[in-house]
Amino acid sequence: MTDGVSRRALLGGGLAAAGAGVGALAGAGGTLAAQAAAAPPPDESIDLSQSHPFYATAARQTQGGIETPPQRYCVFMTFDMASTLTTDLQVLLARWSAAIAQLQAGKTIGTVEPSHGAGVGADTGEALDLGPASLTVTVGLGPGIFDERFGLAKHKPAHLAAIPALPSDNLDASLTGGDLSLQACADDPQVAYHAIRDLARMARGTATVKWTVLGFGRASAGANQSTPRNLMGFKDGTRNIKEPADFSKFVYLKDDAGWMAGGTYQVVRKIEINIEIWDADVISDQQRVFGRDKVAGAPLSGGTEFTTPNFHKAGDFNGRAIDPTAHIALAAHENNDGVKILRRSYNYTDGLNQYGQLDAGLFFAAYMNDPEHFTRIQTRLGASDRLNEYISHIGSGVFAVPPAPRSGSYVGEALFG
Ligand code: HEM
Repeated sequence: MTDGVSRRALLGGGLAAAGAGVGALAGAGGTLAAQAAAAPPPDESIDLSQSHPFYATAARQTQGGIETPPQRYCVFMTFDMASTLTTDLQVLLARWSAAIAQLQAGKTIGTVEPSHGAGVGADTGEALDLGPASLTVTVGLGPGIFDERFGLAKHKPAHLAAIPALPSDNLDASLTGGDLSLQACADDPQVAYHAIRDLARMARGTATVKWTVLGFGRASAGANQSTPRNLMGFKDGTRNIKEPADFSKFVYLKDDAGWMAGGTYQVVRKIEINIEIWDADVISDQQRVFGRDKVAGAPLSGGTEFTTPNFHKAGDFNGRAIDPTAHIALAAHENNDGVKILRRSYNYTDGLNQYGQLDAGLFFAAYMNDPEHFTRIQTRLGASDRLNEYISHIGSGVFAVPPAPRSGSYVGEALFG
């Protein structure tokens, strides 16, 4: 590039700075108008040497991957127990816990090259040299762990039960449920994948893999993070739980939850988005669907991204500025008896579907102190959300997420006392 418009300026966040040059190019093409991309905010400069402790600390009794600022990538996997021996479950949770502590510290889970190449490696090796990349692995226990197989029914968390059938469910049995869940999130995709791969390897003979999702591009925001965009092009995570007081009130379980105190519940949904149909919709309708401006993220009742939506303001959409059947109108806590959930979702793609169309969507992951809060919101969304025309819930799971273990202990140890 010699005309003063660098390659970086054309390809990346420097479009605004490139200003006149880009304008001239667009003008020359006659039809091309560029939307200026904002400079990356400070939290986007990723330090791959960062790590999160796995074991409970004085300041944190909860597992990572919940309140942890969402990392860039996620690999989620569920398992069904193949063994019905309680000790096999216990040993698996203990081995997983020890391994996760190593992985989160950026270490291997054993030798990659044992006995000078003569044996099978304990660790598959693809994360060597990549750093911890802020990896967290969150372990969940499905309702099946507390059925008749393992003698653990008396420890069943009070609110753990399969999610009931909900309006507009289109669930695929092969993407539903699971006795155990692992959510690995990291700022490097290979670090997240390596963690799940090696933990799945450790489970062989005890548990079988059930379903998995590879997520890229966080579609939620934690405290002090910029709001990212989902594959529908909208900012996602603007009104998420971010304050410590809301984590206490809506996410973590209190002392009356017994061995689950400091734990939470995880609800996951694999939600397919009919991207090609969505892309053909006019932007004004897309904005009506969500109740927000596409680029700025501001509610259609006015203001900027973080202005509280006014669901009563008069307007053109069924008499309101924000259509009463817009996604945010139906999901907002103001319209759901004050209930809030922590969303920690990721975009996913599975390539092309059987019709040769883009196969992609949202891996919706949420944490809350009672899964009924998800059910309540999704019952309303499933019945009337304008978004339903473009999405399909194809996968689902609910898991109890125990508190983080003390050093030397393991996830769920209290179950086996
Ligand atoms: C593909 C599916 C979905 C997409 C693309 C999507 C996207 C969005 C977007 C763009 C927003 C507005 C920005 C924000 O405040 O975060 C939003 C808000 C929200 N969504 Fe979703 N969402 C999806 C599914 C769900 C599901 C399944 C639930 C729960 C059952 C849910 C619950 C919420 C809640 C609670 C809010 C905040 C509403 C407010 O307080 O204003 N979403 N979503």
